Amino acid sequence: MPKNNVAENMNAPASKKLHIKTWGCLMNDYDTRRMADVLRPLGYETTDAPDDADMVILNTCHIREKATDKVFSELGRLRDFKITREQNGKKMIIAVAGCVAQAEGDVILKRAKYVDMVFGPQNYHELPEMVANITGAYGKNRIVNTDFPAEEKFDFLPEESTPQGATAILSIQEGCDKFCTFCVVPYTRGSEFSRPVQKIIDEAKKLADQGAKEIMLLGQNVNAYHGAGIDGSACNLGQLIADVAEINGIERIRYMTSHPRDVDDDLIAAHRDIPKLMPYIHLPVQSGSDKILKAMNRKHDAEFFYNIVERFRAARPDIAFSSDFIVGFPGETEADFEDTVKMIETVKFCASYSFKYSPRPGTPAANMQNLVHEKIKTERLARLQRLIFDQQQNFNDQMIGKTIPILFDKGGNISGQIHGRSAYNQATYATAPDRLLGHIVDVKITAATMTSLTGDIVIKD
Ligand code: 5AD
Ligand code: SF4
Repeated sequence: MPKNNVAENMNAPASKKLHIKTWGCLMNDYDTRRMADVLRPLGYETTDAPDDADMVILNTCHIREKATDKVFSELGRLRDFKITREQNGKKMIIAVAGCVAQAEGDVILKRAKYVDMVFGPQNYHELPEMVANITGAYGKNRIVNTDFPAEEKFDFLPEESTPQGATAILSIQEGCDKFCTFCVVPYTRGSEFSRPVQKIIDEAKKLADQGAKEIMLLGQNVNAYHGAGIDGSACNLGQLIADVAEINGIERIRYMTSHPRDVDDDLIAAHRDIPKLMPYIHLPVQSGSDKILKAMNRKHDAEFFYNIVERFRAARPDIAFSSDFIVGFPGETEADFEDTVKMIETVKFCASYSFKYSPRPGTPAANMQNLVHEKIKTERLARLQRLIFDQQQNFNDQMIGKTIPILFDKGGNISGQIHGRSAYNQATYATAPDRLLGHIVDVKITAATMTSLTGDIVIKD
């Protein structure tokens, strides 16, 4: 072995394996990547095989029910791996992270004796210290770290070390102060925090240098963004988008997830004035009934939502909306449900997600009376989904025969095909060489399903 390699190896930390299993939203995907970034300098390389890992982290989601059950069943599997490894003289640190950890940290430690660490979404920048404490007293020490720290984790995270590719996610805002009565997010993620503009721009430039053409600005309540601007004054999302649009190499900008109440004139104007901002917005409304919206503490009525949709459409006629809906919220009558159906029929969404209401421990709605029977919830969900899926199919069908720009980002399922995204984030497949990956190319759409488009590359003369 050449001498300089020996020297390098002496300084490098011993190689260890890390497996992270992720549930839930894009924010959790982001956190998973960042946990790997924090642990890499300690010698941890990621692996897909949990049984071969020195450390396994379950990055959990608490938004709807059964999340905790899933975590415990996964933990049972990990316990067996841990026992086998220990019989072979190896260790396995088991950690539970994310929103279930934040909400139920003590319960997890009590019920699962082989879990070494439990930490919340705002604490993982402290992983090096936690890991040192655990490895130093393996099997004897256990950690619960779910207090909201005074400092911001973003100031302590290392730079992202793995390029994200043609489409990149940039976290700009976290937490939520809205307190919808059904939702755990304000409790698990904490109060709203916006990162300063300069840090976001620096990160966006770096992503562009690494080949990102599209940036998704991510936040739990992204259009409540109010980060410190470069001149010190508060900057809103519309202004931030304008700054990001100035960056060379960035061709497409998206943002997610928005709240109707936080839509302002600047955001609507951004859709009118900034061609790089995609004509698509995910705008959860949850219900079309004024009574239910009030009980959910959504802070607006149906009329307000219809009005916002109109204003966006006036600014950018080709804009498309997706949304989230909850059926069977306590007190939801047939008439309330009909209001939701009417809203979907009127607005015509390009895609939507719908859920049966599930009571979350610790939220105000969990104590409400007038529960909707499970059977009725199931019927309403099925009816809503038929409508939503029809609208999604119609929206995709409208693309057939059109030539639209697609940003290709990865290989397709069938050999010879590559995968990309339309302006409306529709998954699109075309037979094309890999060299088109990372490029925006015109594609003539020939077929559509509910979830994807297929087309032919348009070769320009
Ligand atoms: N029950 C059902 N759906 C919920 N959501 C959030 N909390 C609950 C709950 N308790 C849905 C909302 C939200 C999406 C991310 O998850 O529709 O917009
Ligand atoms: Fe939850 Fe409401 Fe905040 Fe969205 S706006 S994260 S639904 S509390």
